[in-house]
Amino acid sequence: MLDDDLENIYAIKKESPLVIGITDNTNIIASDIRAILKYTNKYYILDDLEYAKVNAKEVIIKSKEGKIINKNLKVFNEKNNDNSKGHYKHYMLKEIMEQKETIFNTILPFIEEGIDSLEKLPDLTKYQEIAIVGCGTAYHAGLVAKYLFKEIANTRCNVYIASEYRYQNNFLNKDTLTIFISQSGETADTIAALKLVKNKGCPTLGIINVKNSTISFLVDKCLYTNAGSEIAVASTKAYTAQVALLSLLVLAQAYRNKSLSKKEVLQIIEEFKNIKTLVNDVLNKKDLYQKLAKDIYKEEDIFYIGRGLDYALAMEGALKLKEISYIHSESYAAGELKHGTISLIKKGTPVISSATNSNLNAKTISNLKEVLARGANVYLITDEHYKEDIIQIINIPKVNIFIKPLLIVIPYQLIAYYVAVLRKTDIDKPKNLAKSVTVE
Ligand code: AGP
Repeated sequence: MLDDDLENIYAIKKESPLVIGITDNTNIIASDIRAILKYTNKYYILDDLEYAKVNAKEVIIKSKEGKIINKNLKVFNEKNNDNSKGHYKHYMLKEIMEQKETIFNTILPFIEEGIDSLEKLPDLTKYQEIAIVGCGTAYHAGLVAKYLFKEIANTRCNVYIASEYRYQNNFLNKDTLTIFISQSGETADTIAALKLVKNKGCPTLGIINVKNSTISFLVDKCLYTNAGSEIAVASTKAYTAQVALLSLLVLAQAYRNKSLSKKEVLQIIEEFKNIKTLVNDVLNKKDLYQKLAKDIYKEEDIFYIGRGLDYALAMEGALKLKEISYIHSESYAAGELKHGTISLIKKGTPVISSATNSNLNAKTISNLKEVLARGANVYLITDEHYKEDIIQIINIPKVNIFIKPLLIVIPYQLIAYYVAVLRKTDIDKPKNLAKSVTVE
């Protein structure tokens, strides 16, 4: 606002998002149309360095050179955009429970007509390597994909934390496809990493939840996760949607490069069609998660361990817990404990693990016995039927490797949630955290 211009507000877009909502009697400047949906669903999106003069009657948008731009007025009509808590006490619980629908909504277009639908996914066989970049939970989704790309689709894959990636030598080349994962599509470090790759002219793909977000515009191709608005700071349904979509990318790759036969791929697709029932089954074990939460909520330190895919999931389990309960929780590769961390295990320390890989389970169980011998209380999520009475077991259904991560993470999410309930924390808005990290 200028001293002699009290009628207008001037806004410029630089890196962080800027929208202008249009109503019949006024106009509103905001960072996201979802923030002003109760007033309007009509809006303009500004591009970097464009600026606007806004008053109650008109909006004039100009380019950085000062030329008036006639922008297309957008209309926000997203389905699955119920922003109320419904009958739930917290958005986080609502979003966890919604996963039986959101995972299915994300994958349906790529499974409904078998292989033909799967073939709609981009062909990655022309690349020599896949790089994945993200932050926090999105990074953890990338770790699951890396495991599947390497172990199932026989494809080179590396995963990077965006804040590290942007300041290191990434040996960028046109034979590497870089996949950017982000719920918000506005995370500053991920955007900076993406610009780095784009500036070198290298190919990019986005796995994004929020439509029309900055990353969705910048990537060469964007696949939306369709999880609907995620409001709780702790990411849950966006994570499972990211993992589900990435899993299908791997499945398509494995089909195209013949790492899996057509018959195997069709069987996996059939199992994916049953995902609602499988997810529901795991969500319904509320009593077990509440009991476990009651056991551990007064603890100061909790460890999550696993091997392979189970290690990637342990990382997400530990992040969920620390984020909303403020308990110190650490994830460790189970075999790495004896190289230092096991010294922290004392009588009563909770150690939570998952063991869902028949080639590695015996090793994980042996690591659990090592911590048991030092007095730890051990909890195990597994699809096997163990009769270890010293270990408390949560059983999940036996499914193919693509679906496993989607089921294992649910107990982790709900344990974190019920612990936070018992500790009476601000679950949806944990201290020191923001839903969208638009600053470095
Ligand atoms: C997850 O529970 C966190 N709130 C956080 O790690 C988040 O996943 C991260 O900030 C990345 O956000 P994005 O997916 O919007 O890029």
